Amino acid sequence: MKLVLVVSLVMVGQYSLIGTIAHAVEDSESALDIALRPLYSQIDTFRYQLDAVKALVRVPCKKEWQLVFKGVAGTGVGLYSLWTAASWDENTMGVGGNWRDESLRDGWQSGELNVRRVKLSLRDFEGRRADLIFNGTGTDIHNWFSQERLISSPWEDVELSTPNFFGIEGYTLEDRRFYMSNNHGGCGNDQGWLCVTESQVRYDCGWERPSTEHPYPVIVYSRLATKVLWNNVVNAADVTVGRADFLTIHVDAE
Ligand SMILES: *[C@@H]1O[C@H](CO)[C@@H](O)[C@H](O)[C@H]1NC(C)=O
Repeated sequence: MKLVLVVSLVMVGQYSLIGTIAHAVEDSESALDIALRPLYSQIDTFRYQLDAVKALVRVPCKKEWQLVFKGVAGTGVGLYSLWTAASWDENTMGVGGNWRDESLRDGWQSGELNVRRVKLSLRDFEGRRADLIFNGTGTDIHNWFSQERLISSPWEDVELSTPNFFGIEGYTLEDRRFYMSNNHGGCGNDQGWLCVTESQVRYDCGWERPSTEHPYPVIVYSRLATKVLWNNVVNAADVTVGRADFLTIHVDAE
């Protein structure tokens, strides 16, 4: 409202300025100076008002995405338990860069924080990054990660698919968390978009098996524009399955 007012004042000011100049050129220099004097003083007023509007607008923009959680691959500590544990123990949980903002997370869980959107980012130390954005309205720390709430992702086929798993709890029998799976069908046929395997519980598919270089938890995701056949990662030359070094959760909230 105030912005509109200021903009119209500036426009009115400019129209009368052009009118004044047209007149002044026909008369004398001193008449021009006299005519411009009140306009210069108006410009100072506009500058002051524009600065005030800028200050008002800047505050909410600055805090658009706030970091709530960082979970790191390969530390031996499961990301699902780090995210859902009732309290944070820095000595056992804050290892290898794992991090949680208790105040934001508690506010989200209690409903005191109005979470508009949630952003899950898969990132690696080379700077690769994939973002998933969810509608956070009415969610808690458990249920925001769902197919219905997904607003955008790197994958064009999620919306029209029927995933067999889509949730942070995931497939508990195999400790696959933050799991977006299109289908199971034996290790060689499993297809999906994202999986965080935390430990070996039952089956031990080659595609989620830890190594010296990549201990648990193992974060894999599709680097295609669609779901991927997880078993591709077993091939050393594969470029379709990405490995994230860490994942982050941000909220856009007030
Ligand atoms: C987000 O979810 C809420 C509650 O389900 C819904 O009312 C709203 O329209 C959704 N917003 C968007 C942008 O999808």
